[in-house]
This record gives sequence, C-alpha cells and structure tokens, in this order.
Amino acid sequence: MEHTAVKDLLNATSIGTSAIAKGWVRTKRGNKNVAFIALNDGSTIHNLQLVVDPNRFSEDLLKSISTGACIRAKGLVVESKGSGQATEMQVEELLVYGEADPETYPLQKKGHTLEFLREIAHLRPRTNTFGAVLRIRHHLAFAIHKFFNERGFFYLHSPIITGSDAEGAGEMFHVTNFDLDKIPHTDEGKIDYSQDFFGKETNLTVSGQLEGELGAMALGKIYTFGPTFRAENSNTPRHLAEFWMIEPEMAFYEISDNMDLAEEMLKYLIRYALDTCYDDISFLNNMYDKELLARLQSVVEQPFRRLTYTEAVGILEPCNQQFEFKVEWGTDLQKEHENFLVDHFKGPVILTDYPTQIKSFYMKQNEDGKTVRAMDVLFPWIGEIIGGSQREEHYDKLLARVREIGIAEESLWWYLETRKFGACPHSGFGLGFERLVLFVTGMNNIRDVIPFPRTPKNAEF
Ligand code: 4AD
Ligand code: MG
Repeated sequence: MEHTAVKDLLNATSIGTSAIAKGWVRTKRGNKNVAFIALNDGSTIHNLQLVVDPNRFSEDLLKSISTGACIRAKGLVVESKGSGQATEMQVEELLVYGEADPETYPLQKKGHTLEFLREIAHLRPRTNTFGAVLRIRHHLAFAIHKFFNERGFFYLHSPIITGSDAEGAGEMFHVTNFDLDKIPHTDEGKIDYSQDFFGKETNLTVSGQLEGELGAMALGKIYTFGPTFRAENSNTPRHLAEFWMIEPEMAFYEISDNMDLAEEMLKYLIRYALDTCYDDISFLNNMYDKELLARLQSVVEQPFRRLTYTEAVGILEPCNQQFEFKVEWGTDLQKEHENFLVDHFKGPVILTDYPTQIKSFYMKQNEDGKTVRAMDVLFPWIGEIIGGSQREEHYDKLLARVREIGIAEESLWWYLETRKFGACPHSGFGLGFERLVLFVTGMNNIRDVIPFPRTPKNAEF
C-alpha cells in the first residue's frame, strides 16, 4: 500500500520517516510564507497537520486545495512545534484527487446543527461528530461478535424476509413483487398471495427470535445480529423503522441466567468502547454532553437493580400526579415511568414478570396465571435498551396463548413444532443496537447514530 493512515502518522514512532498521506482537507490557513492544511482520513478523530511552503507549488494547485478537497501529500514526518499534536508533515509533493468548490460545498468550517447534517447525510460522515459516532458503532459491532464468540455462542443468520410476525404486533412492511396496479384477487375478493413471488404473504422481519429459537434447539447458544424492520409510526428520538438487533437465544437458560448474560454483555460492550474509542468518546463528551464519560463509567461499575413489574408499580403508583400517563397494575410502562425508575435507583434497572396481556405470546407463563417471565433492561438516558424473556416451552400452553390472541396458527406451525420435539427451558433477549450506540455516544437522537436513518416519511440517501 502506498499511503499510511493518519492515525499511524500521528504516532511519534513515525517521526523521521518519509510518508504519503491521503485524505480530505478539513481546513487550510496560512500566509505567503507557510500554509497549514489539516488533513483527515477517517482513521482517527485527529487531523494530520501538513506544513506547506507556498513557494514550492503553483498558485493554481494551492488554490484548488480547499475544505472538503481530497488530496495526496508526500513528505517528511517531523516532531510538531505546534501544540496539540505530536507530529506533522513537511510536504514535498502535493496532488489533488478531487476539488470541493467552496461556493457549494456544504460543510464549511463553522459548526452545523445536527438537524442540518441529517439533510446532508451523504456528507455528514466527514464531520468530527459523525466520524466519532461511526467509529464507535463499528467497534461496538465488532465487540458484540467478540463477546459471543468468546463464550461459545454461534452466529445464526436469521432471514430478513419472513411469513410470520414474531412480535405479533402487526407492524410489518409487506414484501411483494406484484404489479401494484394489477394485484390479483381471489373469487372472495381477497388478495391472491398464491400468485405472489413466494406463493404466500411475506414481510420484512420484525425480529430474528423465532428462527433463533430453532437454532438454540440444535446449537445450544446462538445469537443473531441483523437488520429488523418495524412499520410503527413512532416519530420519536428512540425509534427507527429499520434498526439492527442482537438476539441471543440459549437452551437451558432460566430467566435469571438471561438477566446475568444481559448485564454481563452490556458492561462488556461499554467497557470495550471506553478502552477502544476513548478519543472519540472524549470528543463527544466535551462537545455535547459533559456527563457522558461519568455515566458510562458508573454503569460499568454498579450492579443492575432487579425488581418485578409489580414492585415497580408499587413505586410508581403513589407518584401518579407527576405522570402524564397514570400507572396502575396492568398498564404498559411509558418512557416517563422508565426514566423515573432509573432515576429512583440511580442506574440501570431490570424489570421482570410483566402482566401477560402487555407482552408477546411466546413468553413463559408464570404460575400466578397473570404474569409472564419477561425482562426489560432500562437504562439511564435511553429507557428500554433490551427486551427479552424465558420462553414458553410447553406446547399446550403456547398454543392456547396463540389462539387466545388470535395469531394465525398456520404461519407458525414450524415454531410450534419445536415444543413437540425435544423441547427444553430456554431464554433470550433482543438488544437494540442503535439504542446501545445512543447510550455510548451520548447523542440525543437515534437518527444520528445510524449512517442512513429510516423513519416515517424519510428514506432519502
Ligand atoms: O422489545 P422488543 O420488541 O423485543 C423483541 O423484538 C424480541 N423478539 C427480542 C428477543 O427476545 N429476542 O425489541 C428489542 C429491543 C428493544 O428493547 C429496543 O432496544 C429495540 O429492540 N427496539 C428498537 N430500536 C429502535 N427502533 C425501534 N423501532 C425499536 N423497537 C425495538
Ligand atoms: Mg420491548
């Protein structure tokens, strides 16, 4: 390879070497005698300072180097006299790959709002903020595979196109190759899916869990990590229509094992990010949220508080006057209640044993006949970061629940069969990847932690 990453050129060990750097110009300043170009190539949040003697290069060449331009520089790496960096490059050769017209290039030196940057999502990775977020996102994704691999889990690729609704919430995007102007109908006037591509009604998956359970019934411990899709019209800073989910599923795990794994995993991932992405997290801490580093540190250090839904309602109900949505046993908890609990216990909370009617059909039914062995992990800043449960492994109980809710049994025959052939106690959960990235970056809006967000009325780029 011809060039060296800026990250490596900034290391004092590169002093005295002749090197080539390639990247995008962040700023250019100087006078008749010397010009300074700040070069960034995405390998780090820091820029390499290029020191240029204007007399050695043509005026046209120097003029074509402006903020946003892509260039190649060759020169000697020396100790920097300026503060803030260990090294700089004394440039001997300059080449411009691509200019960026200063009249029209939208990312000028002045700070831009995050809202504006969403409108130029094709260019925002070139800002310090999005460079940091995207590097952190990468390292977290890598750490997830590392965590599970180290513990004997297998990565199972669950399908993106499915014929079932794993969460039973009906919030699915249809998949079809029908000509939408000529959709075939049956004699009864219904859409004739038998003529569609898959010969049945299909949709984008809302969760890989059901297939994950099949994997766990053979491989013992699996995890999925893929995109999931929800057509819920939630225009909030915590919801995306397309988000990535990590779903471990483990044979022979009871709900308490499930909680232990969730807590261990979250702490591992945050610690990994602190160790690996310190410069990027520090930048975000200083730029947006002065409490970010302290918050991450505190979550890693303290045990997560575990309590039942019923106990949580006991804490919330007496405070109903301060809530917009009043709480009583049986109601679903809202963001304001989750925040209250996290504040109350000054850290992450795991809630278990929710009322049956507010949770999904596959959760293990408790002896009391009114709760299921669900678990939600609630985080400061975020609210629900993980949802999971022990699964109902008894065929009759599961089928009864499917019928009670009115889920199309035919679409789940294969799932139900796992309860007929070698069923066992098992558990799993789903971690929303973007909610984890939100927590680790301290960003405010989930649209700012995924390269190209998909939300209601927004699928540009
Ligand atoms: O609680 P959810 O709906 O659970 C499931 O899908 C289960 N099948 C998981 C399992 O047991 N295997 O979603 C899991 C997590 C949530 O806690 C949240 O972090 C995230 O996925 N999530 C979303 N993230 C962004 N945008 C959305 N619209 C999300 N919906 C859920
Ligand atoms: Mg949930």
